[in-house]
Amino acid sequence: MADESKQTLLDRDQAHLIHPLHNKQTHAAHGHVWVKGEGAILTDADGKEYIDALSGLWNVVAGHGRTEIVEAAAKQMQILPYVSGYAGSTNRPAIELAEKINELTYPNITRFFFTSGGGESSDSCFKTARYYWKLRGKPDKTKVISRQWGYHGVTLAAMSATGISGYWPMFEPRVPGFIHIPSPYPYRYEALPGVSQGIAAANELEQAILREGADTVGMFFAEPIQGAGGVIVPQDDYWPRIREICDQYDVLLVTDEVITGFGRTGKMFGLEHWGVQPDMIQFAKAVTSGYFPLGGIGISDAIAATLDSGEAVWMHAYTYSAHPVGCAVALRNLEIIVAEDFPTQAAEKGEYLLKNLRAALADHPHVGEIRGKGLMTAIELVRDKATKEEFPAEDNMGAKLHLETQKRGLFSRLRGDVFCIAPPVISSREILDRIVEIMSDSVRALFGER
Ligand SMILES: Cc1ncc(COP(=O)(O)O)c(C=O)c1O
Repeated sequence: MADESKQTLLDRDQAHLIHPLHNKQTHAAHGHVWVKGEGAILTDADGKEYIDALSGLWNVVAGHGRTEIVEAAAKQMQILPYVSGYAGSTNRPAIELAEKINELTYPNITRFFFTSGGGESSDSCFKTARYYWKLRGKPDKTKVISRQWGYHGVTLAAMSATGISGYWPMFEPRVPGFIHIPSPYPYRYEALPGVSQGIAAANELEQAILREGADTVGMFFAEPIQGAGGVIVPQDDYWPRIREICDQYDVLLVTDEVITGFGRTGKMFGLEHWGVQPDMIQFAKAVTSGYFPLGGIGISDAIAATLDSGEAVWMHAYTYSAHPVGCAVALRNLEIIVAEDFPTQAAEKGEYLLKNLRAALADHPHVGEIRGKGLMTAIELVRDKATKEEFPAEDNMGAKLHLETQKRGLFSRLRGDVFCIAPPVISSREILDRIVEIMSDSVRALFGER
């Protein structure tokens, strides 16, 4: 009976819904109809429970079913569900949220603009940087340098910055002026002898700036730790060298903290791991734990001073910028993140998870690498461990592994054969242990072992 109702819902879905990353064939075979969330557990319409091993899409850090957040939303909806944030209008939750993020983020980042999510925030960064350089008398500094395996959203400009090339072909041509350099990817980046891998990977930025001409490059745009591209944690010397290069060539350093912001990596913001400050940031996801679609950008005092000097109106705005309900939800969620010390929790739980995943699977002949920082972890499958050779794409090993994990009650996402694991920060030890058990059993089942 329960199965029938799930199938009926899937049939109705197929009739009228277009999904993000739509593919009718695979949805028909393996769809889920999620009906409930509690902590780190999701329930499907057939009653089966799954560990939400990617926290939704990396965002539900506080877990499902937090009544404090629900109550904050309901209260704000009763008082004032919506008001424009345009021009001279503001609202109390938006003011308080800007003050709160000012307290939590890099000391030099002090002014904030709110959006509805990550992709809108990427566009807001590109446009803000362009206007900034025009005010500084350098109108040709419009190019954006980002990285292979970077993910920044799918608006046309955000997609053009995104360095996962599978997102491009259906929608070419991309916006001109977006350039990609290799990812520092410790497992795969090959540096020439005599220079460390991190410095060599960072120097790719310098070479790109010189190739393009520093007078044409406005920003370097990158995630402190690459997320959707497969949890790529850079070498310790990478970010300090990137900061030096940006300073030397007068290029803004803009970090996409949509996944790394608000504690998941073990620090409140990603670059704190390396003692580096960016000039501009963007955030989304964990700022509301996914209870409301909200994102934003933050800019340094120096950029703010330049923007404030402009006499024209900044012609950039979203209907839902500074949405009072979204800001109230974010404020309550950030109170939880601070009160429950999410950075420390993520650091400790992430270390525990990584250690146990490695103990269970590092020796497996088809596990190339198990990596992570805080509660961002990933397992990369390879055909040949010695040469790091990948499986042919048509073998779909990652997707097959995901089917195995789903059989055992774990749901997540992959980039090819890289299986990402980023459970809610509130996840218990039992959940983390169960993740290790399911991943270990699933990998072995995939390769026909008992
Ligand atoms: C680092 C990063 N930037 C931007 C985005 C895009 O955010 P949205 O899907 O809210 O547009 C994502 C989404 O996964 C992301 O991980």
